[in-house]
Amino acid sequence: MIHWMKEKLEQIGTTCELADLGTQELEGKTVKLPPVLLGTLGTDSAKKTLLVYGHLDVQPAAKSDGWDTEPFELVEKDGKLFGRGSSDDKGPVLCWLHAIRAAQKNNIELPVNIKFCFEGMEESGSVGLPELLEREKDRFLAGVDFVCISDSYWLGTKKPCLTYGLRGICSFFVEVTGIKQDLHSGVFGGVIHEPLQDLMWVMAQLTTVDNRIRIPGLYDQVAPLSAAEEKTYDDIEFDVTEFRESVGASKLPTEDKKTLLLRRWREPSLAFHGIEGAFYGPGEKTVIPSKVIGKFSIRIVPDMDPETVNRLTVEYLNKVWAERGSPNTFKPRPGHSAKPWVVDVNDSNFLAGARAMKRVHGVEPDRIREGCSIPITLTFQELTGKSVLLLPLGAADDMAHSQNEKNNKWNYVEGVKTLLAYIMELGSA
Ligand code: BES
Ligand code: MN
Ligand code: MN
Repeated sequence: MIHWMKEKLEQIGTTCELADLGTQELEGKTVKLPPVLLGTLGTDSAKKTLLVYGHLDVQPAAKSDGWDTEPFELVEKDGKLFGRGSSDDKGPVLCWLHAIRAAQKNNIELPVNIKFCFEGMEESGSVGLPELLEREKDRFLAGVDFVCISDSYWLGTKKPCLTYGLRGICSFFVEVTGIKQDLHSGVFGGVIHEPLQDLMWVMAQLTTVDNRIRIPGLYDQVAPLSAAEEKTYDDIEFDVTEFRESVGASKLPTEDKKTLLLRRWREPSLAFHGIEGAFYGPGEKTVIPSKVIGKFSIRIVPDMDPETVNRLTVEYLNKVWAERGSPNTFKPRPGHSAKPWVVDVNDSNFLAGARAMKRVHGVEPDRIREGCSIPITLTFQELTGKSVLLLPLGAADDMAHSQNEKNNKWNYVEGVKTLLAYIMELGSA
């Protein structure tokens, strides 16, 4: 994908380079990381410079996961473009390409120089990219005036928005072992301490039934909500019923608009992802797994910091493990983490984004936050010292990371217009 995109960028006159990220240890093997594509389009010192970031890697997908079509073939159906990455994030990256091509074809001079940074490791926590950007601070990143990332989504399906906040994330692994290999549950059931039973019990101590986190002290770091901030939620257009129906749930822990949005955007949440080593295939298997690794993550918000969250979580896991009283071996450990990000919505970059949205859609976009994470956002902000705008193009029901990911053809085309309008608006920002 990186090489494919390099060719496309070169065709529109971009000077490209591939930055090497070195290697990564993966399942005991040393593997090469994909290079990062750095491009420069225009070097006019009289113009300001926009830096565009996007990612070309995607979440895994197989038709057998429950897709109606082949996930890695783009299929157009009922005005929708189905395929893995159509919305997260190959589609939006392509919108940049189309926008610039449209300008070139119509002899419209771009009012800014554009730099591109496209990576292939975002979905795995942007491994290697922060270090690369630090090395590039005084070279590739020098002279950048604005940063724009189109890798988030609208809050609903009709009204555009600008994203000014993201939650961070702390991932965890909890390993339980105790027997030397998998065992027959008829022969050994009842007379050994099962690692999977221990693990499930420990994981069940992490949350309440309505999904509040039971780790002591975890909520203490959450920034208090001021009355002024709370008020900004009043005007946001958000249909709770449409949201509930879009996920196919019969009931939600809260159906109050404000409470629901606050829980998604500015409160921590804990989600369980899976158990490595446990039997999960169809049918029955009367086995006792010998080693299991539970996986969960906690989304974090201002003013939580990953170090404290990691420490509190591991301390709590060790405490409940002690209560469990099992002789098995227990190893909790933190994985990747990213800090939360939240900014002022009224700087010149955001205002240019808002004018672009208004020009294309005829309405003032909502200002929203997101529950998700784009770990590199804060890195760009810190290294350039400039404003980072998250300009979402896709709809809330695009189903990123899920089965049948799609991008509406309408959003895709309007997205191209929005990005070009934004580039043009930066000329007067
Ligand atoms: N594009 C998403 C992040 C996103 C999703 C932002 C929805 C706003 C709305 C991104 O590709 C993503 O999935 N990020 C991961 C990061 C993680 C692997 C560190 C996430 O949030 O799970
Ligand atoms: Mn993404
Ligand atoms: Mn993603």
